[in-house]
Amino acid sequence: MGSYANLARRALETEMPIMVQMQEVLRGAKNCVSLAQGVVYWQPPKPALGKVKELVWEPSVSRYGADEGLPELRVALVKKLRQENNLHKSSVMVTAGANQAFVNLVLTLCDAGDSVVMFAPYYFNAYMSFQMTGITNIHVGPGSPDTLYPDVDWLERILTESKPVPKLVTVVNPGNPTGTYIPESLLQRIANLCKNAGSWLLVDNTYEYFMFDGLKHSCVEGNHIVNIFSFSKAYGMMGWRVGYIAYPSEVEGLSAQLLKVQDNIPICASIISQHLALHSLEMGPEWVRERVQTLAKNREIVSEALSPLGEGSVKGGEGAIYLFAKPPKGGYDDFDVVRWLANRHGIAVIPGSACGAAGNLRISFGGLTESDCRAAAERLKKGLEELVANGLVQDPVNF
Ligand SMILES: Cc1ncc(COP(=O)(O)O)c(C=O)c1O
Repeated sequence: MGSYANLARRALETEMPIMVQMQEVLRGAKNCVSLAQGVVYWQPPKPALGKVKELVWEPSVSRYGADEGLPELRVALVKKLRQENNLHKSSVMVTAGANQAFVNLVLTLCDAGDSVVMFAPYYFNAYMSFQMTGITNIHVGPGSPDTLYPDVDWLERILTESKPVPKLVTVVNPGNPTGTYIPESLLQRIANLCKNAGSWLLVDNTYEYFMFDGLKHSCVEGNHIVNIFSFSKAYGMMGWRVGYIAYPSEVEGLSAQLLKVQDNIPICASIISQHLALHSLEMGPEWVRERVQTLAKNREIVSEALSPLGEGSVKGGEGAIYLFAKPPKGGYDDFDVVRWLANRHGIAVIPGSACGAAGNLRISFGGLTESDCRAAAERLKKGLEELVANGLVQDPVNF
C-alpha cells in the first residue's frame, strides 16, 4: 500500500465520480442492464459521419486549430444561438464537451476560496468542479418539494445575506439528475437576483432539446450570464467531446481570460470532432427533436415501472432524460438499493446521494431503444415490487 501523503488536497477532497463507482457495481453484477448513465441510444447523423470520414486525410485535421474553435463552426453556432436560443450578444468558445466548458468558466470566473451557489439535487460533476478548484464554500439550495424547481426565495436570502456575496450561481435547465425544467419567468427571476447581487449566473443547457409535453426551453442573456451547451446528447456525440460556451461579447477581457484556460487544457477541441459538429448542425434542430420525441415513450415505460413506489414518489422528467424516484425508507441507504437492484435484479440506476439528495434514485431513460427499455423496465419493476413488499431481501450468493 502506498501513501497518500503527497497527493493534492484538491483531488483528495473531491468526491469520487459516481460513474466510476457505478462501473465497479456493474463489473460485479452479472448481465446488468443500465438505466444509469446519462446517454442517448442514437449515433450522430449519417450524412455528417459520411462527410467526416472523407476528412481524415486532410492535413489540417491532424494539426492544432484555433483555441476558440473552428471559425466556420463558431459562425454557425452564433447563428444557431440567435435563431434558436434568442441570444444575440454572445460570443462562442468551442470546448471538449460541456463539462470542460464548465471547468473553463469556473477557472475564469472564480477564485479559490470564493463561495458559489447550486441547487439540490445537483449535477455531480458541477459540484466536483467546484471542489477541485478550491471552491469549498458551496451553498446548496433546496428545490421546491413538489416541483423540484430551484427555491428562488432561498436564493434571494443567500444573495442578500451572505458576505462575501457568492461569486457564481449555477443551474441546469432542464436538470440532471431530475429532468426538471426551469420556467422562463423563474429563470429570469434568478438572472435578475444575480444581476442585483453582482454574481455570475452559469446556465447549463446540455438538454436544451430534451423537452416533453409541449414545454419550451428558454435561455437568458446579460453581461453577468454565461450559457453552456453540448453536442453529446443532442447529436449522439458523447464520445466525440464537443460542447461550447456562449459568453457575453461586451464584457471586456472575458474572452482573453477564457483563452488562457483553454490553451492549458485542450488547446483546442478535437478538430475532426468539430467538423462532425458542424455537419451535424447542418441537419437542423428537427433531426434532434424527432429522436427526442421517441424518448417520450421510454419515459412512459419507465414511469410505469416505478409505479410500485406509490403516488408522489416519482418527480421530474418534464425534460432531459431522467426521472427521480424515492424508494421506501427501510434502514438502508440509496447506494445499498442501487447495489441490490444491480446484483439481484440486473438493473442499474444512480443513487441520489451522488447528487446531494440522499434517499432517492436517478433513472435515465435515454440510452436504450424502446424494446430494450421495455426489458430493462420489467427488471426495474420486479425489483421495486420486491423492495416495497419485503425490503432488501438478502441473496447469500450475490448480495
Ligand atoms: C447537465 C450536464 N452537463 C454536462 C454534461 C456533460 O456533457 P459533455 O458530454 O458535453 O461534457 C452532462 C452529461 O451527462 C450533463 O448531464
